Amino acid sequence: MQPLSSYTFRDPKVLQNPYPYYERLRTEDPVHFDEGVQTWLVTRYEDVVAAARNTEAFSDEMRVSKAVLSPYQDEVDEQMQREGLVLIDPSDSFKLDGELHARRRKLVSQAFTGPTVAAMEQRIEAICREKAAAFLDRSQADMVREYAMPIPILVICDALGLPMDRVDEISRGADSMVAKVGAGATREQAYQHARNLLQLQRFVQQAVEERRRKPGPDLISQIVHARSDEPGVPPLTDLEVMAISTVAIAGGVDTTRNGIAFAIHALATQPGLLARLRDSEQQDKDLARFVNEVLRFYSPVPQLPRITTAETVLGGKTIPKGAFVMLCWASGNRDPQRFADPDTFDIDRPSLNLHVAFGNGIHYCLGALLARQEIKCAAREIINSVESLELAVPEDQLDLTSSMIILRSLTRLPVRLRRRASARSS
Ligand code: HEM
Repeated sequence: MQPLSSYTFRDPKVLQNPYPYYERLRTEDPVHFDEGVQTWLVTRYEDVVAAARNTEAFSDEMRVSKAVLSPYQDEVDEQMQREGLVLIDPSDSFKLDGELHARRRKLVSQAFTGPTVAAMEQRIEAICREKAAAFLDRSQADMVREYAMPIPILVICDALGLPMDRVDEISRGADSMVAKVGAGATREQAYQHARNLLQLQRFVQQAVEERRRKPGPDLISQIVHARSDEPGVPPLTDLEVMAISTVAIAGGVDTTRNGIAFAIHALATQPGLLARLRDSEQQDKDLARFVNEVLRFYSPVPQLPRITTAETVLGGKTIPKGAFVMLCWASGNRDPQRFADPDTFDIDRPSLNLHVAFGNGIHYCLGALLARQEIKCAAREIINSVESLELAVPEDQLDLTSSMIILRSLTRLPVRLRRRASARSS
């Protein structure tokens, strides 16, 4: 057997399928220093949750180091600010801990919970139906490009009142937010990136101004008009409104796209699952279990970083101050101490809502309800519309890409499908 020290997240093969590495780590060295990427990896469920809840020791407050930015960044920022670009630091939204973070979460939690998201179900359903209608009469489709990709961006544009016919520009802006230009970027690339952001911000600004004058029942109105019942809690500033709205686009689109793609992958590959969900007497309940199991099994966001604020002991290991620590949600979700037979996809497993695919503690995903709603609607549309669904290429030809910090994504998902003669209405 390969020694544990020969594994590292520097290796693209490990990145692409981290599960064998996670498994070795959980049993042999659950809090492990990966020399290759100079990062501590926390892999047991219990330790992942403990670290996520201990923000005093494991802080989420990180600044983007100048070393990873384009050498032209200062020049570009200065010039683009003159043209109207608002410079946003991750700590202007939720990448910080303590009272400032708590205040922001409290102010916007209503927008992202219960009634607002529930009220979006019909709109989300309509978007899913329209996208599915384009391929249901064919025998093949790419469920990433034709289905999982367009749904979340359309949903968030709808929720934030952004122009649905400018989705491409909005996507480009979101991509520019997620993918930093990087130290190797040319001046032109750095400007292009900033122009994409500026365009996105202009759309958001327009929507904010409209809702400020005339509030509606939508997400953006709730963010703009968020007020606390507690005395002395100031409303969100203009910068915070912009930072929170744009982070919802950047943080909620690719993640949910992957969640939808993985749900369709499960339907196409787990024997009997599609028929069971289609014929279920309690479809809504079973769908909720299905969505949870998709999130646990596939963990669209496999791991996220923290930084230690002091020397800290976790799982018996001493981690020095200022260390980069990865909380491996995907590994916690496959920990047999928490989920029996964890590598099996099973919507009947007990406690499946205990997964950490949305994180844990104060940084628990703000958009979790919305993401669940989207994955549910997208899956239901397919479940109720097709007789059969299977992969159109061998499993090992599905490109699964992964990055160290954030995303696992299927870049394509070609399927063969057969439409049902009479579709059940949802
Ligand atoms: C399947 C889809 C999604 C997954 C798997 C996911 C996953 C996560 C995870 C793991 C975290 C925890 C971050 C941490 O502890 O460092 C998080 C936080 C967050 N998510 Fe999501 N997310 C999804 C969809 C969304 C959507 C749709 C939105 C917004 C519309 C969103 C907005 C956020 C925000 C703003 C935070 C930061 C919260 C904070 O730090 O207080 N996410 N998400």
